[in-house]
Amino acid sequence: MDRVGHISVLVNEVIEGLCLKAGGVYVDGTVGLGGHAEAVLDRCADIGLLIGFDLDTAALEAARANLSRFGEGVRLVHANFTQIPEILHDMGIDRVDGIVLDLGMSSYQLDKGARGFSFLRDEPLDMRMDVMSAVTAADMVNELPESALASLIRTYGEERWASRIARAISARRKTAPILSSMDLAQIVAKAVPMKYQGRRVHPATKTFQALRISVNRELDNLKDALDMLPSCLKAGGRFCVISFHSLEDRMVKDAFRGDVRLKPVTKKPITPGIDELASNPRARSAKLRVAEKIDTQVLINS
Ligand SMILES: C[S@@+](CC[C@H](N)C(=O)[O-])C[C@H]1O[C@@H](n2cnc3c(N)ncnc32)[C@H](O)[C@@H]1O
Repeated sequence: MDRVGHISVLVNEVIEGLCLKAGGVYVDGTVGLGGHAEAVLDRCADIGLLIGFDLDTAALEAARANLSRFGEGVRLVHANFTQIPEILHDMGIDRVDGIVLDLGMSSYQLDKGARGFSFLRDEPLDMRMDVMSAVTAADMVNELPESALASLIRTYGEERWASRIARAISARRKTAPILSSMDLAQIVAKAVPMKYQGRRVHPATKTFQALRISVNRELDNLKDALDMLPSCLKAGGRFCVISFHSLEDRMVKDAFRGDVRLKPVTKKPITPGIDELASNPRARSAKLRVAEKIDTQVLINS
């Protein structure tokens, strides 16, 4: 599903994972431009309701246009997916039949967001998915102590050259603040050893990932969602999560295995096949895990 610059990943696998039911209520916690949501609504014509959440108001505006033909069958909400329980409660919805999270950012945000997500563009160093949130990537890069910056880049980027990169950032910002994505990308590229420069993967990839995760509190949000969202599912309801890097996938795997409310449906993560990778190389790191809500009443009575 190609939505003005974003091709949704693992669409058929998500649809299969959700086990769509006529009259069912489904939540897309990361609706983006509406690709997965549209597939859900298209594949099961008599879906009861699809509720889509996103932090990004520009994405929601696009989703609203893309999903307009489904009329009352769709509700879109500008909110963090960690707020799903309280928002469902406010809507008078007790539990839902399925939840999907397609983590990270969309290609639209990367290519057209003009918020400095890409090291290939010269844009303001912002990286907020929700422009109402307080802290930008420029704030972090210019204000965090060097040691905190190194730790952030090491932890969230799994970057072996984190200390060198933080040192270079700290040295450069003494003369002028770092305000653009291109500026930061060049500082990082110069900080890593020569032999790592000019490789297929840009030397700033991991630093940009680390900053984006940190600015948007992505791992904290995921942890909260994995704790809270199973309680929003009906017995037999499905929870599908697509992750894009090992930090996220490990959290999803451990949560699905260790949560007494859930039974993992996928033993190993589902990854894109060669056809999907040929048409969408950005899908290469996607991993889908699916779990099913156990009938907790049975657990209580046993
Ligand atoms: C990979 S895109 C989703 C694409 C979508 N599935 C599609 O097919 O068009 C991820 C989306 O999740 C949003 N997002 C990331 N973290 C979020 C959170 N904690 N709460 C709500 N939305 C979030 C991003 O703004 C982005 O639009």
